[in-house]
Amino acid sequence: MSVAPRSGSGKVTVPEILSRKSQFSNPQPKITCLTAYDYPTARLLDQAGIDMLLVGDSLGMVVLGYESTLPVTLEEMLHHTRAVRRATERALIVADMPYGSFHVSLEESVRNAVRLVKEGGAEAVKVEGGERRIELIARLVEAEIPVVGHVGLTPQSVNALGGFHVQGKSADAARQVERDARAVEAAGAFAIVLESMPRDLAARITENLRIPTIGIGAGPDCDGQVLVIHDLLGLTSGHLPKFARRYADLAAEITRAATEYCDDVRSGSFPSDAESYHSDAELQARPPARQRA
Ligand code: KIV
Repeated sequence: MSVAPRSGSGKVTVPEILSRKSQFSNPQPKITCLTAYDYPTARLLDQAGIDMLLVGDSLGMVVLGYESTLPVTLEEMLHHTRAVRRATERALIVADMPYGSFHVSLEESVRNAVRLVKEGGAEAVKVEGGERRIELIARLVEAEIPVVGHVGLTPQSVNALGGFHVQGKSADAARQVERDARAVEAAGAFAIVLESMPRDLAARITENLRIPTIGIGAGPDCDGQVLVIHDLLGLTSGHLPKFARRYADLAAEITRAATEYCDDVRSGSFPSDAESYHSDAELQARPPARQRA
């Protein structure tokens, strides 16, 4: 059953996301979430009416050119979360806790999450892992930091998992993913990402949890969906995951524009006389400084 989206104007809050948990007797509009790592992209996505912006540690792979998400630092997450914060008026901003920022001690983990909120402007943090994160999630919630869980394929576990594989395929593995999801909910998370698992398993978890599930490679039955913005815009090279739908081909468009620019500069047709300043009045009317909004 499809449900009309709510009006796009009000600030999206944690209670609002919680209230979007669909029940058979009370269907809700699906939660929309995309990753964002910079000011202009976050501004456009916010204006488009996205519910949640995830400053994901996928930053490392799609923006910074790392092989995995493991090298991403807290400082890098802070830098990009601040940029997204400055651009965003409506969407709820969730920042990923990067690998290493919550693996040493509970005290240090809470301190790092507090930095993402206090210095980065995040309104919630996302933590990968299930049963092993119970204590941490409870401590973060106690520190007034709303938490999004993340189970199934957790890219920070790439070495332990032996690669980026679909999770929960055997009956035993599926039971473990279900236990992980229940543990995350019991610890106090207000939403949970389900990544790369069979549709039926994600549907069962969604039905059995009270908090909303946000799927990526987990089929259409979750309470919401998240995608990496570079996949959606056609900015990633190499193969596209099966679950990612490409809504634009910006790589081709950027290459075309840059090639045309190079041709114009080399031929002398850019800049033209009309694109040159001739008087102070023109300088005042269209100054070189860029507008923020
Ligand atoms: O880092 C990220 O972008 C994520 C999403 C894939 C859920 O964790």
